[in-house]
Amino acid sequence: MFKILSEKPQDAATIEILLDECFGKDRFTKTVYTVRKNLFPIWELSLVARSDEGELLASIRYWPLLVGNMHDAILLGPIAVQPSHQGEGIGVALIRYSMEQAKKLGHKRVILVGDPEYYERFGFVSAADLGLELPGPVERRRFLIAPLEEGALDGVSGMVSGNPAAEMMRG
Ligand SMILES: CC(C)(COP(=O)(O)OP(=O)(O)OC[C@H]1O[C@@H](n2cnc3c(N)ncnc32)[C@H](O)[C@@H]1OP(=O)(O)O)[C@@H](O)C(=O)NCCC(=O)NCCS
Repeated sequence: MFKILSEKPQDAATIEILLDECFGKDRFTKTVYTVRKNLFPIWELSLVARSDEGELLASIRYWPLLVGNMHDAILLGPIAVQPSHQGEGIGVALIRYSMEQAKKLGHKRVILVGDPEYYERFGFVSAADLGLELPGPVERRRFLIAPLEEGALDGVSGMVSGNPAAEMMRG
């Protein structure tokens, strides 16, 4: 069994080790890292899963974005589950819970780069087909977006960029 909790500052080092394990050290060269540069994660949506014994099993973070300099969005990622605990439902639980929280906080749409076969169950569709772009190379089929309310993808297209102002507004 596991619990979903807010990430604490003291979790950061353990999360870095988990991310290295899941994505390798070359993860920093990915286009999503370019987008996240100079951003802080949205703290209300920075969550971990812990075992009953308190071991950190998984992490998820989100980041504030703008699409086409007009529409707010949030970037999901990275999500990582400890290899020895993958396939136990932790990833699905973390994504479902965090997307519900994001909706409650008033966020309208979620963007990510990931396997469509995994993410379509959460409502993700092709972002490239809607005319969204990323400022770097990305495998077209893995560039995805999900609405958090009806109509939230209508008219949303253009270049995706980080939105540091969203953090400033949070204060
Ligand atoms: C991808 C990841 C987050 C999924 O979390 P998880 O806790 O292992 O997954 P869950 O147990 O919640 O879900 C398991 C289901 O997802 C499916 N699944 C897992 N990874 C998948 C993938 N890459 N593509 C398609 N389906 C996938 C499993 O087949 C299983 O399907 P089922 O429910 O039909 O049996 C996790 O495996 C992980 O951290 N992997 C390494 C890092 C990574 O790839 N992160 C995502 C980057 S976009």
